[in-house]
Amino acid sequence: MSSPRALALSAFEREYGRPSDALVRAPGRVNLIGEHTDYNDGFVLPVALDRAAWIALTPRDDGRVRLYAADLEQRGEFDLASCLSLAERGDASAEAGGWLEYPRGVAWALQEDHAHELRGFDGTLSSDVPRGAGLSSSAAVELAVAAAFQVASGFAWDPLDIALRMQRAENHWVGVASGIMDQLIGAAAVAGHALLIDCRDLDRRAVALPDGVAVVVLDTNTRRGLVASAYNERRAQCEEAAAALGVEALRDADLDDLARVRDRLDEVVYRRARHVISENARVLAAVEALEANDVTTFGHLMDASHASLRNDFEVSSAALDEIVSAARAAPGCLGARMTGAGFGGCGVGLVEEGSLDDFLSDTASAYAKASGREGELLVATPASGAGRDTTAR
Ligand code: GLA
Repeated sequence: MSSPRALALSAFEREYGRPSDALVRAPGRVNLIGEHTDYNDGFVLPVALDRAAWIALTPRDDGRVRLYAADLEQRGEFDLASCLSLAERGDASAEAGGWLEYPRGVAWALQEDHAHELRGFDGTLSSDVPRGAGLSSSAAVELAVAAAFQVASGFAWDPLDIALRMQRAENHWVGVASGIMDQLIGAAAVAGHALLIDCRDLDRRAVALPDGVAVVVLDTNTRRGLVASAYNERRAQCEEAAAALGVEALRDADLDDLARVRDRLDEVVYRRARHVISENARVLAAVEALEANDVTTFGHLMDASHASLRNDFEVSSAALDEIVSAARAAPGCLGARMTGAGFGGCGVGLVEEGSLDDFLSDTASAYAKASGREGELLVATPASGAGRDTTAR
């Protein structure tokens, strides 16, 4: 199978009859720990993946954007002037052509407040971040389009500003109320590192991954369905708990505070809050463990995160539980959990490198036996954030 980089390049020559001027990429991500904490002003610890969305492009002199989505074999085009207000957005979930709302939303978010003077481009897009798998495929596409506009228009690339604008594109144009994690790791990742993000002040700290361990993405090969309503419901429950606690966000409470208001909270809301509060503490403990080279403790925190997401936050699925159990029982596994929004998609494991081969084969066969499905296991190489690719073609 061709790489998405090669596909974007060759599709460009076919579509436009000449080679492209530039190439940009934006990575997917896997979150090591800190799930459903970002929209509670909490902490997350994602890494960018070597799976990415790529765009080959040549800038245009006008405000037209022409894009060929090579994986979908679909063409789309629009004028930058048609993305100046939210009133002009179309239906991102539409069967055909809905994908074009992602680049249009990016154009809107970059042009909002007259922040950036944009120029159009001719481009071709290809991505190997699987859709609906919890690996942030939509943020990767948004950031790749933003990087293409940066090349075409020449504005200064400030990763934090770009991430915030891409989150606005996702929230207001595409209509998904996601937090900031996916866009910020995609924009600001440091190769070879995880990124601790404080989702309140958006401070970041790159944390090196210790030698001798591998991050393995555990794809159940199940894709989540209509997740937006369950996601938004979780957000509302977290806000209800924060209001009962009298705090701005669950980030500001600890488990003792929660115990004091337990009688006043609905049982489900109580458990949702218990997940978020305990998960924030786990992220901070996990970073401390990583920095002390204590991968055993890190792994246990991943396990505890999974149990909390399954029991208290109720966003796991049978397939996710099966692949996480399969991984947990395999040789060399230090810890494993579901990753991303949940309800399907992927888990993530931390594995001793010396046992990697046995880990991969045992996990694959145990998962197949338990679920009747073929999973896909991907050893991650923590990548850098979105930007222009300057390596030789
Ligand atoms: C999705 C959202 C993120 C985050 C995760 C759960 O990936 O886009 O902002 O909330 O779910 O941690």
